[in-house]
Amino acid sequence: MKNIFLIGFMGSGKSTIGRLLAEKLNMKFIDIDKEIEKKEGKSIKDIFKEKGESYFRELERKEIELFSEKSGYVVSTGGGLGANKDNMEKMKKNGIVIWLDVSLEEVLKRCGNDKNRPLLQLPFEELKKLYEERKKIYSLADIHINVNSKTPQEILKEIYENL
Ligand code: S3P
Repeated sequence: MKNIFLIGFMGSGKSTIGRLLAEKLNMKFIDIDKEIEKKEGKSIKDIFKEKGESYFRELERKEIELFSEKSGYVVSTGGGLGANKDNMEKMKKNGIVIWLDVSLEEVLKRCGNDKNRPLLQLPFEELKKLYEERKKIYSLADIHINVNSKTPQEILKEIYENL
């Protein structure tokens, strides 16, 4: 198996599902946000604050680049990583891309109060625009799973059926 990349908006469950999926498929699990935090020695929130968003996006791009030489990983990505066309192309070349599609209402219900996610601090209209824009790129994924009101087990089952 090459790699499996999980993409989708903040709060779509990429890390939770990714970990479970890796266990089931006997693959290695990696969370790109955690990798970046480890390498930079600071939180995503502080990277955004101190170095800016474009610096963070470059770190994400480099992490995805590394997967051209790796296989057997389930990769959980940050919400913006899979919304970039170049990243999408690279991921599709190096594995299967699965979009966990969550409604904006559900995102706000799950993590609307999370102060550690810089982009969730945007005014609602801007967040909605970002959400709609990102969906256009997310939809280029190989597999599309609607995750609203489903349990992790139901989501996993749907993923197996589509792999
Ligand atoms: C981001 C999502 C976050 C994290 C960063 C930026 C985004 O990851 O990478 O705060 O641009 O949507 P999650 O999707 O895991 O929240």
